[in-house]
Amino acid sequence: MTLFRGTFLDTPSDPFSGGELRTEQDGALLVRDGVIRARGSFAGLRGQHPEEEVVDLSGGFVLPGFVDTHVHFPQVRVIGGLGMPLLDWLDQTALPEEARLADPAYAAGVATDFVRGLVGAGTTTALVFGSHFAPAVDTVFAEAARVGLRITSGLVVSDRLIREDLFTDPDRAREESLALAARWHGVGRARYAVTPRFSLSCSEPLLEACADVLRAVPGAMLTSHVNENTREIATVEELCGCDYVTSYDRHGLVGPGTVLAHNVHPTDAELGLLAARGAAVAHCPSSNAALGSGLFPLARHRAHGVRVAMGSDVGAGTGFSLLKEGLGAYVAQQLLGEAGHPLTPTHLLHLATVAGAEALGLGAAVGDFSPGRRFDAQWIKPAPSTPLAVGLAHAADAGDALAKMFALGTPADVRSVWIEGELVNTSAPHLVG
Ligand code: GUN
Ligand code: ZN
Repeated sequence: MTLFRGTFLDTPSDPFSGGELRTEQDGALLVRDGVIRARGSFAGLRGQHPEEEVVDLSGGFVLPGFVDTHVHFPQVRVIGGLGMPLLDWLDQTALPEEARLADPAYAAGVATDFVRGLVGAGTTTALVFGSHFAPAVDTVFAEAARVGLRITSGLVVSDRLIREDLFTDPDRAREESLALAARWHGVGRARYAVTPRFSLSCSEPLLEACADVLRAVPGAMLTSHVNENTREIATVEELCGCDYVTSYDRHGLVGPGTVLAHNVHPTDAELGLLAARGAAVAHCPSSNAALGSGLFPLARHRAHGVRVAMGSDVGAGTGFSLLKEGLGAYVAQQLLGEAGHPLTPTHLLHLATVAGAEALGLGAAVGDFSPGRRFDAQWIKPAPSTPLAVGLAHAADAGDALAKMFALGTPADVRSVWIEGELVNTSAPHLVG
């Protein structure tokens, strides 16, 4: 067993319903086989367990590992393609790179960059948009398994209106998806996600094939995009003859295991349908800003009872850090003025951890530091004299410290990351072993 010592911050109760930030100053978590067995003050737990190894994380803050509910594996190398709206950015930046993943050797290099990027940002669980090429999807599952990252991913499918070298057909999509699910779903920390790219690029027979795979793989998730950009939405409505959410729902693709990214421009009817189905929305603020998609209507999602979590949306999103996305979520609500939902740092932490775990159906396993949860954690410890170190040294209380982490923190401030009690990344090599 290991006793992790430090100041632990987490959000076991929902701040949207009055829950407060939980702080354990000079606290300890007792971890055995990757699971938190006890929590309390360091002095108290040390007294009960005088022989256990201590990992001392004093002098920073320990947060639950982040849960990124929307991130594209093939796009890590094209982050930063600024200045275009969605459909132009797809044509000119994202999809040419996605086509390069036809080469499995290239895809393997991208998978390494991608998993490193996630873990380096303190993300320990992710719902990952895979590739259009099945061997490339194998490489990202394999790399995540090698590192220990908890991912849910799958084959991305399309058969219209994007570049043709990314096309599949319904039979091939069914066959390749089922084969990938057979190899990876429920193996270690991996799970399968059925992944139509967006209904703009998927014919009705292809969405039916997605529904077949979803039915055939118990516990599989469904992820896609929805209501991101006004031009895209008009095209979907023209093609499908219905609203965007219905374009998925009429194939049985919207349920409690569904996460749809963006939803910047929903109608009330669509929000009502998402709530009725128990589906979740991945809010991706840096992407929404970079592509000029719009400001996310969080208050309307809350009013309809739609579950919301955070996504980095790399590579339209501008990096892997959910600290940056949290700040972006806060800023977007500020810019909405009266229509915005005020967000505290506690809301931001909850959105980046517990809300994500719940959206992925992993709420009983990860997201906070309650006994019984896996020890998925990140130690935020900035280099001395940096603005964040100065800010944390002068923080009024834990909530203020958390605000400073969201305002100033970057992956450079994530000193170490653990998944299920195993150190998976550290910039402090003396901690290993
Ligand atoms: N809609 C369809 N594909 C994509 C993508 O790769 N990124 C974003 N942001 N939206 C999409
Ligand atoms: Zn996306």
